[in-house]
Amino acid sequence: MKQAKKRDSWGSRLGIIMAVAGSAIGLGNFLRFPAKAAANGGGAFMIPYFISLFLLGIPLMWIEWTLGRYGGGFEHGTAPGIFHSLWQKNRFIKYFGVIGIFGPLVIFIYYTYIEAWTLAYSFFALTGKYSTLADQASMQGFLRGFQGLENNQYFHGIGLAYLFFIITFILNIWVIYYGIKGGIEKLCRWALPLLFVFGAILMIRVMTLGTPDPARPEWNISNGFGFLWNADFSSLKSAKVWLEAAGQIFFTLSVGIGVILTYASYLSKGDDVVLSGLTAAGTNELAEVILGGSIIIPAAFVFFGQEQMRTIATSGVFNLGFVTMPMVLNKLPLAALFGFFWFALLFLAGITSSVSLAQPAVAFLEDEFDINRKKAVKIFAIVSFLLCQPAIFFLKNGVVDELDFWGGTFFLVLFATIETVLFAWVFGMEKAWDEIHKGADMAVPKIYKFIIKYITPLFLFLILGMWLWQEWLPKIFMTNISSADRIYIIGTRLGLICVFLVLALLVKIAWRRKRVTAENLR
Ligand code: ALA
Repeated sequence: MKQAKKRDSWGSRLGIIMAVAGSAIGLGNFLRFPAKAAANGGGAFMIPYFISLFLLGIPLMWIEWTLGRYGGGFEHGTAPGIFHSLWQKNRFIKYFGVIGIFGPLVIFIYYTYIEAWTLAYSFFALTGKYSTLADQASMQGFLRGFQGLENNQYFHGIGLAYLFFIITFILNIWVIYYGIKGGIEKLCRWALPLLFVFGAILMIRVMTLGTPDPARPEWNISNGFGFLWNADFSSLKSAKVWLEAAGQIFFTLSVGIGVILTYASYLSKGDDVVLSGLTAAGTNELAEVILGGSIIIPAAFVFFGQEQMRTIATSGVFNLGFVTMPMVLNKLPLAALFGFFWFALLFLAGITSSVSLAQPAVAFLEDEFDINRKKAVKIFAIVSFLLCQPAIFFLKNGVVDELDFWGGTFFLVLFATIETVLFAWVFGMEKAWDEIHKGADMAVPKIYKFIIKYITPLFLFLILGMWLWQEWLPKIFMTNISSADRIYIIGTRLGLICVFLVLALLVKIAWRRKRVTAENLR
């Protein structure tokens, strides 16, 4: 008889908390969050943000930790198997679980490329490659040249960006090759504290900027914080602001993606999920609101002032991170060092997230096809490497934005809705409540029984409904896409459909094999 395979596991409780926090703390905390907050009402944005945190983010954290641990008990580390274990009578539910492998894979294929830019810029900062660029146009040209969007005096072709992509990709594969305890946990144990050190240094530097230009006394650091945090309550009337806040909570906490399910599947039955989940979420919020909110926007304000900041804050996350921030740091003494801290911070935040995005696909191959980890990682490496190529070569045609929309926005909400309904309504709230509390180090406040059963699913349906109502048609018909780029967007969508169908087919094959094996054993 075949020997039951032993699944990987975490080395310690701190290890998994750090890994989940590492997955959550990512580029979203330092680039996406400040950009969203500044563009959506400043301090007022924090109202829908915290409401989403308490009604969506934290409940989903608990749901995913619990479902993951539950599925791990059946040797399933990804959503198809976990959903099937929850609702064994339903033959189709496992196909809904495909989203939990597809979503992280889609994010991985563009996220790794952006992560590669942060590694490249860390080197550029140290070697002074952009240190002489003083204005927005030249820093922008430098970025565009690097990304291969134009040939200019700084770069010819995409070669260097591609080289850094290969390095970043290999680093990611190397980490997951060594598994949960030997790879991911080890990485997060040193990367996360280091990230906080870099973040704290940058935050203190920004807070002590004072008024760098005495001729413009109003361009000072307290007004910089005011620019980000003064509340414009009229923004709360816009549905878009609420959607943006909820979307940010999903992305930043890595919930609705599928990665926490997989990480938690390596827990043991009696391991706590309540306090651990809350600690990981709390660590992410600390990094996002305190560090993320105190670096880029206030720093840019003291050098560019109120008027220019309005344009800068809405210029997109890449501009903020790779154009505005290096320009700001260039104006400071020890620019090379602070530039390095900034980009190394982003790189560490990025890699601890991207390895988590890779893990569901690897776990799926291991658990459902009985493939050993090293082989599963090799298969993943080849397939994901090929899938990364369109994001790299067709960046200017909007492929990354398209992938981010489906993988990083839409499917998150859809997946979260499915898992919440399954957990609270199919599995049943009473059983779910018991399951959450197995081995728990603290009790979840009673009110969450009501929230998880009614409020979280209602909120999710509301978000989906509003999205369908406001954006479905323009999105599907590519109203905001130039006619030249439409072909690339259509190509991306067809590619995504193929990836989804292949994953669904793999689920079908895996379950058929299991059935045949079970029948043979009878
Ligand atoms: N949670 C990760 C981030 O914020 C994906 O970037």
